[in-house]
Amino acid sequence: MIKISHLRKEYPNATPLKDVNVEINRGDVISIIGPSGTGKSTLIRCINKLETPTSGEIWVDGNCITSKKCDINKVRQKMGMVFQSFNLFNHMNVIENIMAAPMDLLGKSKQQAYDDGMQLLRTVGLADKAFNYPDELSGGQKQRIAIARTLAMNPEIILFDEPTSALDPTMVGEVQAVIKELANKGLTMMIVTHEMRFAKEIANRVFYMDEGGIYEDGTPEQIFENPQKEKTARFIKRIKVFENLITSKDFDFIGFNTSLEEFGRRCGISQKAIYRMQSVFEELCVQIILPELSKDFALNVTAEYSQEDDSIAVQIKYSGKAFNPMDSDNILSLKLAQNAAQSIEYAPCNEEGFTNMLVVKIK
Ligand SMILES: Nc1ncnc2c1ncn2[C@@H]1O[C@H](COP(=O)(O)OP(=O)(O)O)[C@@H](O)[C@H]1O
Ligand SMILES: [Mg+2]
Repeated sequence: MIKISHLRKEYPNATPLKDVNVEINRGDVISIIGPSGTGKSTLIRCINKLETPTSGEIWVDGNCITSKKCDINKVRQKMGMVFQSFNLFNHMNVIENIMAAPMDLLGKSKQQAYDDGMQLLRTVGLADKAFNYPDELSGGQKQRIAIARTLAMNPEIILFDEPTSALDPTMVGEVQAVIKELANKGLTMMIVTHEMRFAKEIANRVFYMDEGGIYEDGTPEQIFENPQKEKTARFIKRIKVFENLITSKDFDFIGFNTSLEEFGRRCGISQKAIYRMQSVFEELCVQIILPELSKDFALNVTAEYSQEDDSIAVQIKYSGKAFNPMDSDNILSLKLAQNAAQSIEYAPCNEEGFTNMLVVKIK
């Protein structure tokens, strides 16, 4: 139904979409997730032609909507869009908001537009608000009206851009319930959302966006329970990462410790745990590993904090001959490191530039 090939969108200071290639089938309900700034909004705005792609093609039902010859108004009639902010006309009451476009653009009679509009208000549970004005409604009600207004154009595809992110937490559920009902009716939908449970429940396909495109495309089970790619897994597990490469014995030791502490604060981990991370770094890296390394070396420290199980793992990779710090005769430093750690595991490493790897779980 929608085919996107080599879609690229550049802005002066960012290129959120580098090369997007994907096909969307009729009846697909797609949740689009990913860190902010990864082009989720840009992608759906390109599909709706609210943005003009820099290059590439988008086909909707066999029409190339990125071609100059395409009648975009016709295409837009097939496509509804629901935004974070509801964009209702405040000077019109609810039913007038819903009747306007079908009368203007579809040529419906007033009576027909009214009857159909009332029917839609019943589907979103707001028939009793038909003659109220938007400012008399809650955020959740306004968004349900906005959805009814979109449905009034009888679209084949609905694009949602964070439809619940402007709402009070108490109103998120009522809007999600309406969207779920539409999914059950077989409408084709793409929904950008940061509500992970909703994203998982509603969709038959999930796009995880990162690195200038759809980084992983899979079923909800794959993306949420068994992601195949590293960044998806990190995002799903809410893993926050700190990474620092050291290539000189005269590296900025104080700067390193300060940024490790800032990382810990950002993650909201306790002062004790931050101190343990620093202690592991000091004893294992500075006291034990660094003295073993020759002049040209690389030592990479990665700390990962997982929100899911509140755990911290420090990974230390380094070059040089095989050396297991557990064999060190610096007994005191070993003891101090072991005291800060829950476990320390050594393994050879065959990543480029590194030959040794240590994984330390912090207490
Ligand atoms: N109209 C615009 N002009 C310039 N830069 C933009 C514009 N819209 C988005 N961007 C940039 O493109 C990137 C992706 O934005 P967006 O698609 O809104 O991301 P997301 O919805 O995933 O948070 C961001 O770096 C943003 O600053
Ligand atoms: Mg966005």
